[in-house]
Amino acid sequence: MATSTKPKVIVVGAGIFGLSTAYYLAEDGYEITIFDQHPYDRGDGYKLNPGSTAASVDENKIFRASYGDELYYQRLAYEAREVWKQWNEELGPGKELFVESAMLRVQHSSHLDELEKKTLANMTAEGLRDTQYILSSDDDVQRATGRGWAHKMLKFAIPKTDGQETFEAVLDTTAGYVYPSQACAYLAGKLRKKGARFIEGSAKGEFASLRVEGSGELRRVTGIRTKDGEEHSADLVIMACGSATPMLVPEVRRVLEATAGSVVTVRLPPREEAPELWDKYAHDNWPVIIGHDPDPTGKTVGSRSIYSFPRTEDGLVKIGYRVTKYTNYVKLPGSDRPISVPLQPEVDDTSLPIKSVEGIKTFVSTFLPDLAPLPITATRLCFYTDTVDNSWLIDYLPGYNDTLFICTGGSGHGAKFTPILGKHVRDVIQKKPKTELTHHWRWRPELPLGNGLEEGPDGPRTLDKQKRASPEDLRRAGWFAGSHL
Ligand SMILES: Cc1cc2nc3c(=O)[nH]c(=O)nc-3n(C[C@H](O)[C@H](O)[C@H](O)COP(=O)(O)OP(=O)(O)OC[C@H]3O[C@@H](n4cnc5c(N)ncnc54)[C@H](O)[C@@H]3O)c2cc1C
Ligand SMILES: *[C@@H]1O[C@H](CO)[C@@H](O)[C@H](O)[C@H]1NC(C)=O
Ligand SMILES: *[C@@H]1O[C@H](CO)[C@@H](O)[C@H](O)[C@H]1NC(C)=O
Repeated sequence: MATSTKPKVIVVGAGIFGLSTAYYLAEDGYEITIFDQHPYDRGDGYKLNPGSTAASVDENKIFRASYGDELYYQRLAYEAREVWKQWNEELGPGKELFVESAMLRVQHSSHLDELEKKTLANMTAEGLRDTQYILSSDDDVQRATGRGWAHKMLKFAIPKTDGQETFEAVLDTTAGYVYPSQACAYLAGKLRKKGARFIEGSAKGEFASLRVEGSGELRRVTGIRTKDGEEHSADLVIMACGSATPMLVPEVRRVLEATAGSVVTVRLPPREEAPELWDKYAHDNWPVIIGHDPDPTGKTVGSRSIYSFPRTEDGLVKIGYRVTKYTNYVKLPGSDRPISVPLQPEVDDTSLPIKSVEGIKTFVSTFLPDLAPLPITATRLCFYTDTVDNSWLIDYLPGYNDTLFICTGGSGHGAKFTPILGKHVRDVIQKKPKTELTHHWRWRPELPLGNGLEEGPDGPRTLDKQKRASPEDLRRAGWFAGSHL
C-alpha cells in the first residue's frame, strides 16, 4: 500500500466544534486523530453525568434561526436545519436528533422590541415571514390556526408591579431543539467509518502541551504531548477544547472566557399519575419558550435570557438561565494573571448561585406553574466559551506558520450548527476567501474587551462571590417554597 500523503491533523476536543471540523476534514481526505480527556468512546458515551462540564454534553439545546440583524448566522442556521432534517431521515422515526417543536420568543413588554423587529425584518427579507407568528396579530393567529400552530401561541399573564400584563410574543415555527449528546455520538460514528482515530480518556487522551520546534519565524507546532507522556506528531493541530481552551493555549486568554450557565431539571410525576402533564409538555403540544431579561444589555439574541424545553421522553423539563454567566477565576501555575476556567468534572460541584435559582423560579411561576410544586431532579453549571463579541473564534493562531488552529468560542449558540459548522471551518483551514461569516470568526485580539470579559477577576460575576445552593439544599427548602435558602 502506498504511504499516505494526506496532511496529518490532530484535533484536541471531541465536542461539537472538534467533531464537526474533523468530519469535514476527513471527508476531504485528511488523516485525523481526535483526542479527548473524557472517554466518550467507552460505556455511556456522551451521556450527561453529574459533573459533566462540556457544553456539548447535554439533554437538549435550542435550535433557532432568529438572529436579529446577524443575517449570516440566520442563513447558517437554515443551512444547518436542512442537514438536521436529512439526519432525521437517515436515523428514522423515533431516533430524530432535531425536533421541530417551534419556539415562542416572549418579549419583555407588550410590544416587539428592537431586536425582535430586526429579526422579523431579516426573516421577511429572506421570504420567511410566514413561518413567524405574532401573538397580537389577527392575521397571524388566523394563519396559525389554518396551519395547526395556534395551540403553541401561548399567552401568559406576566406579573408586573402595576398589575398583570400579557406580553407580546412571536412563535417561530422553524425553531425547536436538538439532542447534542446524541448528535456528537452520531458524528463520532460517522468519523470512525471514515477511518478517523480516537484517543480518549484521562492521561492518554488528555492534552498536556504542544510540541513546538524552532523559534522566531521558524517556530512551528509539530504535534502534541499527552498526559501519559506520549508524543503524537501532526502537520496541523486544531485546539477545540471549548471552555478549557484558554487554560491550554495562553495566547487566547485575552479573547476567550469560560463562564457558567445555570441549569435546573424538574421531573414530572410518573406518567400514570399525571398523564395530563405529560401530554401538555410533550413537544407536539408545547414549544421551547425563551424569555429575555427585562433589562437586556446584550445586543445579541439570547444573550440575556431564561428558557425552557418541552419534556424529554423521560419526563424531564429543563430550564436554563443565562441572565448572569458566572466566571471561575483561578491562578494557574506559571501564570501571573488569574483566568476563568471550567470546574473540573471530579469537583462534582453542581450547586447554583441563588440568583439563578430565583430567576428560574420567577420564570417557572409564570410560564410553567405546574412545575412549581415538583421536586428538582438536578442542577448543573454548564460552561460557555465566551468571546469578546459572541462570535466564534475559528482561525490560525499567528506565530506558528499555520500549524496551530483555534476552533472554539461557541458563546452559547454553537450546538444548532453541529451538522455544518465544520464545513465552514474547513474553508478557513484551507484559506478560502473570507466570507462575512468567516470574517467574524477571525483572530481578533484588536477588539476592545466586551461581553463581560472586561470585568476580569474583580468583577461581580465570579462564582466565589455568589451565595450558592446545592440540589439537596433546594430539595430541603422545597425549592419553590419561599426564599428560605
Ligand atoms: C448552558 C449552555 C447552554 C447552551 N445552549 C445552547 C442552545 O440552546 N443552542 C445552541 O445552539 N447552543 C447552545 N450552547 C452552546 C453550545 O453548547 C456550544 O457552542 C458547543 O457545545 C461548544 O462545543 P465545543 O466543542 O466548543 O466545546 P465542549 O463541548 O466544551 O467540548 C470541549 C471538549 O474538549 C475536551 N477537553 C478539554 N480539555 C482537554 C484536554 N486538556 N485534553 C483533551 N480534551 C480536552 C473536553 O473534555 C470536551 O469534550 C449552550 C452552551 C451552554 C454552556
Ligand atoms: C438584515 O441584516 C443586515 C445586517 O446583517 C442589515 O444590514 C439589513 O438591513 C437587514 N435587513 C432588513 C430587511 O432589515
Ligand atoms: C512556513 O510553511 C511553509 C509551508 O509549510 C513553508 O514553505 C515555509 O518555508 C515556512 N516558513 C518558515 C519561515 O518556516
